[in-house]
Amino acid sequence: MKKLWGGRFERQIDERVHLFNASLPFDMRLYDEDITGSIAWARALYQAGVLTAAETEAIIHGLEQVRAEFNNGTFVFQPHDEDIHTAVERRLTELVGDVGGKLHTGRSRNDQVATDFRLWVMRAAGHLLTQLHELQQALLTCAAEGLTVPMPGYTHLQHAQPVTWGHWLLSHFWPLVRDRQRLQRVQRDTAVLPLGSGALAGTAYPIDRDTLAAELGFRTISPNSLDAVSDRDFAADFLYVTAMLGLHLARLSEQLILFSSREFGFVELDDAYSTGSSLMPQKKNPDTLELTRGKSGRLIGHLTGLLTTLKGLPSAYDKDLQEDKEPVFDAYDTLIMALPVMSGLIHTLKIHPDRMAAQLEPGLLATDAADYLVKKGVPFRQAHELVGQAVRRAETKGISLTQLPLSDWQEISSYFTADILDTLTVEASLAARNVPGGTALSALKAQLRAAREAIGM
Ligand code: ARG
Repeated sequence: MKKLWGGRFERQIDERVHLFNASLPFDMRLYDEDITGSIAWARALYQAGVLTAAETEAIIHGLEQVRAEFNNGTFVFQPHDEDIHTAVERRLTELVGDVGGKLHTGRSRNDQVATDFRLWVMRAAGHLLTQLHELQQALLTCAAEGLTVPMPGYTHLQHAQPVTWGHWLLSHFWPLVRDRQRLQRVQRDTAVLPLGSGALAGTAYPIDRDTLAAELGFRTISPNSLDAVSDRDFAADFLYVTAMLGLHLARLSEQLILFSSREFGFVELDDAYSTGSSLMPQKKNPDTLELTRGKSGRLIGHLTGLLTTLKGLPSAYDKDLQEDKEPVFDAYDTLIMALPVMSGLIHTLKIHPDRMAAQLEPGLLATDAADYLVKKGVPFRQAHELVGQAVRRAETKGISLTQLPLSDWQEISSYFTADILDTLTVEASLAARNVPGGTALSALKAQLRAAREAIGM
């Protein structure tokens, strides 16, 4: 089988070199974009006066036939197809004859692959946006149901101040809003057309690149042909966004794993989203969450891998750039599986408000005791110190802060009066934080409204 670039070669390629060189095993998933790009290119060649109307029609018809073969699974690869571009062109020529050989006029696989890959990333980002939206809806539904359910809030994983389940869950919603915006930015930034850049110096035919861009759904055209064929910023951007999204899912997973442990018991995973142990009959394991947490490793790895490949490359195409696709495909495949699993898990998650309530010990209210003194004019630093004394006293007596008798409070500071005992409740603590983003009921409701708005719900 003759290579499409075989003219200047006397001997056949070494079989191992062919396999090493070939990208077909992974870039065949670009077939649809490749054909779409080629059809637009054929039209552009026609408009440039390179192809006749009959030739253009034959080529486009042939390309649609090739697409149909891919779609219905009858496309047959040949052993020496090197990549998706050569495979499509080879088959086109088999179907339409010599005229198929005119398609590649003024084009190179360098501007072709950059175009195909951009089209693919734009579409993939769209699919991820849809799945992300589903997860955000699941989080919102769950957060709305438990909006006012009190639970301990943690810093350093130590009891800090009371929060609510809804507030906590929404803290994992907002990072996804940012991921959403990042994905949309990637889509926009990727929509810059490289086609027409040729191998490196621009095409020698009078192609209307702006029309070509519009036809393929690109926003604009690349300004420099050398840059256009080697620019993989969009792939790195995509991998940063997917790494970040994976990282957010991992953090949510980690906390749910913790909260589903017997020690916490705040949440319970549905049977459909957990797995058992082959040895221990009692086990219900959060494998789905652990895998999601674990997969963030490969997502981050893909980003650093591609950046390392790109670093130090001269401008214009180098074969190193063929390494751009697998990490991007894998990042997409990873998330397109992980996102719906996480959505289902959240939708079916059971929360145990009683277990959360059981952990609401009065130590969580120490800041409120300090705020009480501040309201009476005591400087905060001093108030902090005085409440610290109360905490120590309660600890020494083996009682909780709210069990400390009024006489003890008053010995510490005469600013403490009888009402200190009613002040120190979880409800009062939550209600006191009445700022946007805080735990008071009206603030929580406003946050939920804003969250709904953010995803058009
Ligand atoms: N399979 C190649 C890639 O993915 C296509 C471009 C090949 N260009 C070349 N000059 N060999 O990068």
